[in-house]
Amino acid sequence: MEKGPDMLSQTQGAPRMLVGDSIRSRQVKRLIDKLGASRWPVLVLGETGTGKEVAARTIHQMNPEGPFVTIDCSALVGTIMESELFGHVKGAFTGAVGQKTGLIEAANGGTAFFDEIGELPLDLQAKLLRVLQEKEFRPVGSLFPRRSDFRIIAATNRDLSREVERGTFRRDLYYRLNVVNLKLPPLRDRKEDIPMLVDHFLEVYGSGHRLAQETMDALVSYDWPGNVRELENCIQNMVAVHTGPLLTRTDLPSSIQNHLFARKAQALSVAVGSVGTPAMHLAKVEAAPSPQDPPVLPLVELEKRAIRQALEYTRGDRGIAASLLGIGRTTLYRKLKEYELAC
Ligand SMILES: Nc1ncnc2c1ncn2[C@@H]1O[C@H](COP(=O)(O)OP(=O)(O)OP(=O)(O)O)[C@@H](O)[C@H]1O
Ligand SMILES: [Mg+2]
Repeated sequence: MEKGPDMLSQTQGAPRMLVGDSIRSRQVKRLIDKLGASRWPVLVLGETGTGKEVAARTIHQMNPEGPFVTIDCSALVGTIMESELFGHVKGAFTGAVGQKTGLIEAANGGTAFFDEIGELPLDLQAKLLRVLQEKEFRPVGSLFPRRSDFRIIAATNRDLSREVERGTFRRDLYYRLNVVNLKLPPLRDRKEDIPMLVDHFLEVYGSGHRLAQETMDALVSYDWPGNVRELENCIQNMVAVHTGPLLTRTDLPSSIQNHLFARKAQALSVAVGSVGTPAMHLAKVEAAPSPQDPPVLPLVELEKRAIRQALEYTRGDRGIAASLLGIGRTTLYRKLKEYELAC
């Protein structure tokens, strides 16, 4: 007999919990609590790395009947797709030397988690719909139907309603899956969770490491396009590379440091490049009125402030500072000397 469900499925896995105490995370957890007590289909939505799989496992673990089977639809490729899902009988096709149990059958009595459901081709969508409606399927090459009854949780980071409009996702299957919708917010919309997640990952991966406040501030100011997964990788990386115990801002992975730096420089150049001479506008940014300032500042004072701010932003890099200020490097040197600015 051939192997049963393999790399496409995970019938077990370390229990993971959704860490986070922001209002949005608490809403998600409350909904998960309710869903755990039911057998309704759930469609989990969210950008990559927001925790869709962790959420699906948590729902299953709240009432853990039968196995939890992950079906990664993006890994179901080519002609083996159907037999991975539904299994096959001996001799069903060249190379089918034995019979094989499919993932659908393996999920019987438990939960089938269809990850990246938007990747499922239309012909398999039709077959999946049939299983959901009739609780029946036919292994490849078999004349006889078999039964499988499972709870379905599907996840996607695509806009499935748009796929329905385009005709690449079946409308009837969409309605069947979208009974309850669990939306996981991106990390940038729940930054209050970052410190708690950091502590969690430090506990998982660290050995007595802790973060300096400036490092935590930098992590909170970053937008995390890869969401919690990216944050987890970041902590794992810092802990692996630095012996610690204190992780400072310079210990951040260079990709994140570069990104934060580029964003600051971009914000600055937007302010600089809006109207008029760059130096004056940078000066305007720097010269935000303070209560001690007279109503009009002399241009020389504005210029000094602009230079100081540019050097502070660029951490003393005179080349970049000069280009942000819209002046040549030699001019910057001359002005530093002239104004006796020691940077
Ligand atoms: N709220 C959370 N608390 C703790 N860990 C989390 C949380 N959210 C995500 N993670 C961790 O982040 C990683 C990515 O999570 P998961 O695989 O569930 O994301 P996903 O939304 O399914 O991503 P993708 O769309 O790329 O498949 C995992 O290692 C998971 O443990
Ligand atoms: Mg996933």
